[in-house]
Amino acid sequence: MGKVISISNHKGGVGKTTSVVNIGAGLANQGYKVLLIDLDPQANLTLSYGINKPDSTIYEVLKGESAILPINIYERLDVVASTLDLSGAEMELSSEAGREFILDEALSNLRDVYDFILIDCPPSLGLLTTNALTTCDEVFIPLQAHYLAVKELAKIVEVINKIKKRLNKKIEITCVFVTQFDKRKILHRDVLETIKTYFQEKVCETKIRDNISLAEAPTRGLDIFRYSPSSTGAEDYENLCKEIINRKK
Ligand SMILES: Nc1ncnc2c1ncn2[C@@H]1O[C@H](COP(=O)(O)OP(=O)(O)OP(=O)(O)O)[C@@H](O)[C@H]1O
Ligand SMILES: [Mg+2]
Repeated sequence: MGKVISISNHKGGVGKTTSVVNIGAGLANQGYKVLLIDLDPQANLTLSYGINKPDSTIYEVLKGESAILPINIYERLDVVASTLDLSGAEMELSSEAGREFILDEALSNLRDVYDFILIDCPPSLGLLTTNALTTCDEVFIPLQAHYLAVKELAKIVEVINKIKKRLNKKIEITCVFVTQFDKRKILHRDVLETIKTYFQEKVCETKIRDNISLAEAPTRGLDIFRYSPSSTGAEDYENLCKEIINRKK
């Protein structure tokens, strides 16, 4: 049975989408069958893979109008696209019975098809994120090493604890990792130490360094391994994938 993982942090711009794209590609490179779900109305994951006018999106799935129809990108890597229409979904579904479980229901037949299903969450803690947290086995939290990061983490932990109590007993935070890391900055090193005292072994050894190739790759519709295989970005995401695989064993 595959693992469903939400990549979540309500803070914007911390590297959620970049991580979904490149962890997804890295795991597919290692031989795993991977599905990436774009659950963000900004549709950055969808655009990162150069999908411009998808025939089918997660919006129709959440509205109950369609089953999940993954789009194949490479061998072993499929994507469920998003669209700006999704921004209306939270309102449209707000009075629907069982609204927190719609994604869980839609994924039920796919859990056996993939080794990993990664969900790219929007930068908010509304109904879309709740749907991701209700269906996932694990949560990965990417964050930037600044002082407020610890405060943000406390908020996500509070939300996840509530979800665990009320909607999804199996949910666990398993990986917390730092993105856009600069080891020359004392602040970055200090914040990392603080996060480690709080999350201990959940903090990944791998730190994703600041690397311009990671920002450039989506403009070509490519992941980092295809865009710049010798970059530090490719090295870091490959190492992060190895950690993820080792933790799964
Ligand atoms: N390690 C990195 N080095 C350099 N640039 C990065 C790195 N990681 C992400 N970026 C860039 O930072 C910006 C924000 O990253 P990304 O879109 O992945 O964050 P996000 O958390 O998904 O944002 P949002 O909350 O808006 O969905 C993007 O322009 C991305 O290309
Ligand atoms: Mg994003």
